[in-house]
Amino acid sequence: MTAAPVQLGDGLTVSPLGFGGMALTPVYGEVDPAEALKTLHDAVDAGVTFLDTADIYGGGSNEELIGQLLKERRDEVQLATKFGLVGNPAAGYTDIRGDAAYVEQAVDRSLQRLGTDTIDLYYMHRRDLRVPIVETVEAMAKLVQAGKVRHLGLSEVTAEELRDASKVHPIAAVQSEWSIWSRDVERNVVPAAAGLGVGFVPYSPLGRGFLTGTVDASKLGSNDFRRNIPRFAQSAAASNQGVVAAVKTVAAELTVSGQPATPAQVALAWLLGQGRKFGLPVVPIPGTRKADRIDENLGALALVLTPAQLEALDAAADAVVGSRSADPTWVSEGRE
Ligand SMILES: NC(=O)c1ccc[n+]([C@@H]2O[C@H](COP(=O)([O-])OP(=O)(O)OC[C@H]3O[C@@H](n4cnc5c(N)ncnc54)[C@H](OP(=O)(O)O)[C@@H]3O)[C@@H](O)[C@H]2O)c1
Repeated sequence: MTAAPVQLGDGLTVSPLGFGGMALTPVYGEVDPAEALKTLHDAVDAGVTFLDTADIYGGGSNEELIGQLLKERRDEVQLATKFGLVGNPAAGYTDIRGDAAYVEQAVDRSLQRLGTDTIDLYYMHRRDLRVPIVETVEAMAKLVQAGKVRHLGLSEVTAEELRDASKVHPIAAVQSEWSIWSRDVERNVVPAAAGLGVGFVPYSPLGRGFLTGTVDASKLGSNDFRRNIPRFAQSAAASNQGVVAAVKTVAAELTVSGQPATPAQVALAWLLGQGRKFGLPVVPIPGTRKADRIDENLGALALVLTPAQLEALDAAADAVVGSRSADPTWVSEGRE
């Protein structure tokens, strides 16, 4: 890939598109572990070297899978993982921990599973509302001093939480849901990150696949996490076909390398454009189990949407039905 690397906050440089590893262990359906490892290798071969995982994904097996890649390619990768959620995404979360003792234990367990001695970007995955955020970030800062972690990140924080945390230690990135159909972060946390020099890593940039038009909400498997999300409920998902149609219409008007653009490319290019609009580095981390989608998603880096197309997508986004989380305090929006 020829596109230039991007500097997030705190001097952390990453590939301009990242890879979300979550669904390489079951959460949106079954996965073949050999194919998952091959997809990771193909991502790195294609220049998608900013890899995202978390201790909770696959109950630890996702970090172990990434560890398989790192055995051979640690130096080629910017490695991000997260702590704080307790349980398993497929079976349900049982707790959130942000106390110092937990942070200290969690990093050692992640390092062991990943088979590396340093994590490039270590995120607090969710706020433990029993612990002041400064206490959690103080514990994370000690990991930087100990050389276990290079940079700190925060997932699903409010603007106020980000400001408090930044007083303790520089924050390289906020990772929160942000896409054409999830724009609540634009109100407060994105402008706050821009003001503080913090980069933004939008998760679920393809709307957990929905924006690509390939997800039939009525056919999700019994252990598919999306069944828990209100906007994927069948009646909401039916209404939300409007946003899918708008993305497809925009894609049909554009080309990438002489080929018709795809909905996934439009969704990612839209986010890159929002980064330019808000004046901060934005590095989306789309996830896929299928190697051929890596090159497709990279095509977004060459795509710029017109003002009329942006307006059409704004209107479609305004009509989206259903929240992005069943538990409002689970995401930053519910605590603003
Ligand atoms: N911080 C957090 O709390 C949090 C929460 C959620 C996710 N994340 C991170 O963000 C990453 C990405 O989010 P996500 O996986 O939830 O959602 P996403 O990237 O928005 O969408 C992933 C889905 O889109 C499909 N897909 C990918 N490329 C496609 C393409 N070109 N055309 C059609 N479909 C395509 C994938 O299906 P196939 O596998 O079949 O290709 C997959 O089901 C995760 O992997 C994880 O690392 C973080």
